[in-house]
Amino acid sequence: MKLKSQDQWLGYVLALHFPTLVLWRDLGAMALDNGLARTPTMGWLHWERFMCNVDCREEPDSCISEQLFMQMAELMVSDGWKDAGYEYVCIDDCWMAPQRDSLGRLQADPQRFPGGIRRLANYVHSKGLKLGIYADVGNKTCAGYPGSFGYYDIDAQTFAEWGVDLLKFDGCHCDSIKHLADGYKYMSLALNRTGRSIVYSCEWPLYMWPFHKPNYTKIRQYCNHWRNFADVYDSWESVKSILEWTSSNQEKIVKVAGPGGWNDPDMLVIGNFGLSWDQQITQMALWAIMAAPLLMSNDLRHISPQAKTLLQDKDVIAINQDPLGKQGYRLRKENNIEVWERPLSNLAWAVAMRNLQEIGGPRSYIISLASLGQGVACNPGCFITQLLPVKMQLGFYEWTSSIKTRINPTGTVLLRLEGKNRLHQKA
Ligand code: GLA
Repeated sequence: MKLKSQDQWLGYVLALHFPTLVLWRDLGAMALDNGLARTPTMGWLHWERFMCNVDCREEPDSCISEQLFMQMAELMVSDGWKDAGYEYVCIDDCWMAPQRDSLGRLQADPQRFPGGIRRLANYVHSKGLKLGIYADVGNKTCAGYPGSFGYYDIDAQTFAEWGVDLLKFDGCHCDSIKHLADGYKYMSLALNRTGRSIVYSCEWPLYMWPFHKPNYTKIRQYCNHWRNFADVYDSWESVKSILEWTSSNQEKIVKVAGPGGWNDPDMLVIGNFGLSWDQQITQMALWAIMAAPLLMSNDLRHISPQAKTLLQDKDVIAINQDPLGKQGYRLRKENNIEVWERPLSNLAWAVAMRNLQEIGGPRSYIISLASLGQGVACNPGCFITQLLPVKMQLGFYEWTSSIKTRINPTGTVLLRLEGKNRLHQKA
């Protein structure tokens, strides 16, 4: 399908779906109405760690091949990842053959995926997991493989027939902002029309930002999560820049997140090479506060027990997956300490304190409890548990009291506050 007919199709489809769109608005839900991603997606995604390695002759264990995803799926079950909540095994760029088939369908590289994606999906499903795949709204993927422009319906249908459960839709090689927006919308509707439940992961705002302020209300109507900022790298500079971008833009982005639609600050790089232990703790704690999709990009065959324990920490995951679905925000920054907080269900709160200072040793920080959770988190009192860097019951605190913590350079202390009244109600 070429652009012209595609535009016509878009009009047709939007017209057909107009009553649904109106309904979404009436219900005030304003989220992509596919019933998916009610809590942030959890899984594994190949890009940061394995990139576009297609050299299976030289590097059979780290090239993008069916074997890599089958091994990760196996380990996700045998090593407790699935039990911890990680469910989606996701393929990123570079899985495709360089050409479409004679019917215009995308095909997997036959050498690296000899069984094709359908067989891989069956395998992943047999493990009780779900399969994610990658495509691009423009003429080519970022790495130069065939793009979906002009083929949105065919590609949506192909992915559904293969049994794919998530689509990461990138935004490279798109020739205009209009094509970008239309393409992201069109693909959302095309996926819905297949009748298969497919999580729709967008990069729409990331590619909009250089030209226009994204309309997040609109984006939320079409996508289950959306990337806002540059790709994560295995480095502290990268993780820091994502946190900085997020807090600087929190007024625009925090309010739009909720069940069915999430801001995506990109993959977890915990368990790789670039972050110190304290920095890994910061990434885990802040991704929980931000209600971010937890998509690890690491090598589950070679991961330290320490990183595994952190990534599988059920208390921190419970904050990330909290059913209230409200994204946290930076509450204050003073004297090189940042305080972030996130409201949780049952009137609980998560609080993260980061030490931004990159010189010296651990620093003490005293915070008045009345200043947290809009004044109500600890009113009239609360039980506080420190979750990171190590779990510790800190006990009962009055609203008028303060709490003293020590935070390592570049590290984070993550707390959970449970209101006194709530615990009484429970008893
Ligand atoms: C873009 C995306 C990355 C990754 C690569 C693949 O840079 O933002 O997450 O998918 O493309 O080429």
